[in-house]
Amino acid sequence: MTTKQKALFIIFGGTGDLAQRKLYPSLFNLYKKGFLNENFAVIGTARRPWSNDHYQDVVRNSISGMEDTAQQANEFASHFYYQSHNVTDTNHYVTLFELAQKLDEKYQIGGNRLFYLAMSPHFFGTICEHLRSQNIVTANGYNRVIVEKPFGHDLASAIQLNDDICKFFPEEDVFRIDHYLGKEMIQNIAAVRFGNNLFKALWNNRYIDNIQITLSEALGVEERAGYYETSGCLRDMVQNHILQIVALLTMNAPVTFSDVDIRQEKISALKALQVYTPQEVKENFVRGQYTQGNGQVGYRQENQVAKDSVTETFVAGKLHVNSMSFAGVPIYVRSGKRLATKGTRIDVVFKNMPNNIFDCGQILPNVLTFNVDPIPAMSLRLNSKAVSQEGYGIEDNTLTYTHDNALRAQTPEAYEKLLLDALKGDATNFTHWQEVYYSWRFVDAIRQAWDQEKIDVETFPNYECGSMGPKAAFDLLAKDGNHWEFDPCHEG
Ligand code: BG6
Repeated sequence: MTTKQKALFIIFGGTGDLAQRKLYPSLFNLYKKGFLNENFAVIGTARRPWSNDHYQDVVRNSISGMEDTAQQANEFASHFYYQSHNVTDTNHYVTLFELAQKLDEKYQIGGNRLFYLAMSPHFFGTICEHLRSQNIVTANGYNRVIVEKPFGHDLASAIQLNDDICKFFPEEDVFRIDHYLGKEMIQNIAAVRFGNNLFKALWNNRYIDNIQITLSEALGVEERAGYYETSGCLRDMVQNHILQIVALLTMNAPVTFSDVDIRQEKISALKALQVYTPQEVKENFVRGQYTQGNGQVGYRQENQVAKDSVTETFVAGKLHVNSMSFAGVPIYVRSGKRLATKGTRIDVVFKNMPNNIFDCGQILPNVLTFNVDPIPAMSLRLNSKAVSQEGYGIEDNTLTYTHDNALRAQTPEAYEKLLLDALKGDATNFTHWQEVYYSWRFVDAIRQAWDQEKIDVETFPNYECGSMGPKAAFDLLAKDGNHWEFDPCHEG
């Protein structure tokens, strides 16, 4: 069912890359599908002195090729208004208030407001404060703040940021974006786990041997090296996306499928992560940086990167979740830039048969795989009888369900899904503050251990562009007698 939404979006950072690449196309899709109709408007703000006309041109450009007719694109763009805005100048909020009131009336929005903070987190506090003090929040509708990542730089800065926002907006009105939670196959984890008795019964340390999560990227840091130098892969990918996936895989079943209950269980799962000592970090975590190879330059040769940078562009680790269901199950994770391929994949490796009665050498364990990107698919590796004239052989076969082109064309992009959820006030796929808290608590311990440990310049950078990371990332599993199920460098 298409429920028409009424909302005024105020986007701080309206001229930015994210707004143009993700937000405007997503809003346009919601418009085309009828979720947004007459009763919506967008105020884009940023420091640049743009006119409304120019802003609407930018919006039209960002949706170019998606429109059915030019008139449709024009009509959509006509809902966009620009205000040049210095976030620290109180007078600018006075103008913003007037514009917001005018648009609320013109489009009969009923006071619903979504404040999208797509700019430096440094300004979030002052923006939220002014939204309250200048009465830009309404009394007759909802007022929700959508916050882009990164949410802090470490636990202390995240606490500060959260305090700055929550002084003015209660937790239930704060929507922290993690775009991975808008991906179809990530959302599928709950469907498979809680919709199939088969897996409900097996989803614990009695039957699962280990879990492997890979977020591999073929691209390098592109034009974002300035940010990446201060972030590194641990903060950029592990603190948010990977730990969110860990939470979805290891959480207990929620009592109901609602945002409150689901997030409660995710919080407990993240709380159960074992926070490592420096010695445990050494044993369980590997960092890497790409060096030139396969026609690509090394990280240190990228623009805006220090020639002696030790920023990690790769992380692999083994996590322990100290819960009743998952204690003792290693959760292996890895992510990196300039790897062999773009591939986001989760492999749940089940324990092997306790006894092999077949006279056929080794039989392989069952593996349930979620292929998130680039092609959404799920598969299950099973053993079955090999067809033969004589004897009784066992071979492994994989049952696969892939989203075909038609289904993929129908699948909303992550941002589109998340924006609609925020419009509806459904926080299921947004990160609760306590999830952020426990994620930083875990990540900080690794970061601090690494920052204290001197990197051996002889061995860093340590993996070639186009590989699947440093050897140590393979050794991490090998020393437990395991291996990465996803090994694109050795696949036929
Ligand atoms: C972002 C990171 O959160 O996720 C980027 O900041 C990364 O560095 C991106 O490239 C990956 O997202 P996706 O959806 O392409 O896997």
